[in-house]
Order: sequence, then C-alpha cells, then structure tokens
Amino acid sequence: MRYPGGKGKTYQHVINVMPPHAVYIETHLGGGAVMRHKRPAIRNIGIDADLKVIAAWSAEEIPGVEVVHSRAEDFLAHFDFHGDELIYLDPPYHPQVRRRTRVYSLDYSAEDHKQLIALLVSLPCMAILSGYANDLYNDSLVGWHTRTFHAKTHTDVREETLWFNFEPPKILHDSRYLGADFRARQTTKRRLQRLQDKVKRMDPIERAVFSQWLDEEYSSKVQSVAR
Ligand SMILES: C[S@@+](CC[C@H](N)C(=O)[O-])C[C@H]1O[C@@H](n2cnc3c(N)ncnc32)[C@H](O)[C@@H]1O
Repeated sequence: MRYPGGKGKTYQHVINVMPPHAVYIETHLGGGAVMRHKRPAIRNIGIDADLKVIAAWSAEEIPGVEVVHSRAEDFLAHFDFHGDELIYLDPPYHPQVRRRTRVYSLDYSAEDHKQLIALLVSLPCMAILSGYANDLYNDSLVGWHTRTFHAKTHTDVREETLWFNFEPPKILHDSRYLGADFRARQTTKRRLQRLQDKVKRMDPIERAVFSQWLDEEYSSKVQSVAR
C-alpha cells in the first residue's frame, strides 16, 4: 500500500524521536511504514478510517498488532490513557500546504485538522505528529518540540516536520536507526560494533570492573530518563 506522504522511505526519522513506551498507537495507519519497522511495544494499536486499509491489514494479520476501524478522533476521545502511551499521527496533509487538492479517498478538511489538534493537545500521553508546517499546527502546538527532515514526493523534495510534546529523548525505544541518513547510520553502527568487539576482547576481570563502572555511572541515569 502506498500513500502520498507514506513513510516508506522516512520512517527512521520518526522512530529516532521515540522515547521508551509501553503502548504504541498509530492513528492514521495507511501502509503503516512506522508500525512495520519500529520495535513493537507491549501493546500496538493501528487505526484507520478507511475500510480498505483495515481489510488489507486484517488479511495480513501481523502478530501483536491490533487493527481498529475508526476515525482517529473517536478512538482517541474514548481511549483509557495511563500515560505510558505514545501516539504517532500522520494525517492527510493540511489543505493549506497541499499541492494537489484531493489525494486520499478519505480526506481531511481544515476543520477536521482543527478538531484533531484541539483533541491532541488535551491528551495525557506522549504524541508525535507529522506533516508540512502550516499556520494551524504552528499556532496551536506552542511549546511542542520540532524536528525536520527532507522527503521526496512524486515531483520534488519537501521538508516534513515532526511535532512532539516531550523533551528530545536521551534514550530511544528503538536505536537501530540512529543517524540522520544512511551514511550516518552506517558510521554509527560500525563505531558501536568496534566498541563492542573491544569489550568482547577484554580480560574477563577487567571487563567486570568496566561493566560495574558503566552500571554505576549510567544505569540509574538511564532509568530516570526512561521513566
Ligand atoms: C498520510 S496517510 C498515512 C500514511 C502512513 N503513515 C504510511 O506510512 O503509509 C493517511 C491515512 O489516514 C487515513 N485517514 C483519513 N481520515 C482518517 C481519520 N479521520 N481517522 C483515521 N484515519 C484516517 C487514510 O485512510 C490514510 O490511510
């Protein structure tokens, strides 16, 4: 399944801002590139208002993913949040920043976006929203952090923004895609691999001392960040 704005080539950027979470909710699932690539949470829920999308996912039956046919707004308004949830929202682009007028079979008017954002800012959990910068998001998501990345469209390259309502994480739910692009990810991977090889080659007693030091120096900090 391919969508204008589908995250098939850019899911890494979204996964790289995700802090640890117990429940993952993706509200405008479509092809669900992020859901498919990220490390699963304890509970994983995908929502889409289009029956065709739900039918495609149901035929595939990805283990551990609950797929729900609903409007995102209805689902979020009634979900029983505990605070350990992370929602990722990738709604159709806002009409103000869209080049073609109608690109999805189920569309979002400016009013739909307004309602979604009003609901979003009231939710008691972590959330990441993606899209092109527009007045509504810029004016409503005051105090939210942003990160941008470039994404190829069928005609050119455009800047996408991620808005998120938590501090940029010091530890990630899934660190396999660390790095801004393919080259940076390869470099990071190789650097970490060299470090791991070095630790593997250490004298066992020295390694135990090193491991204890790592624990004392970083474990409690990592846990307090994760909480
Ligand atoms: C931009 S696409 C999502 C692309 C997806 N991130 C991917 O990687 O393929 C938008 C999706 O939102 C769905 N949608 C439209 N209105 C919706 C609503 N009110 N609630 C939930 N999903 C909706 C559409 O059916 C479509 O699948």
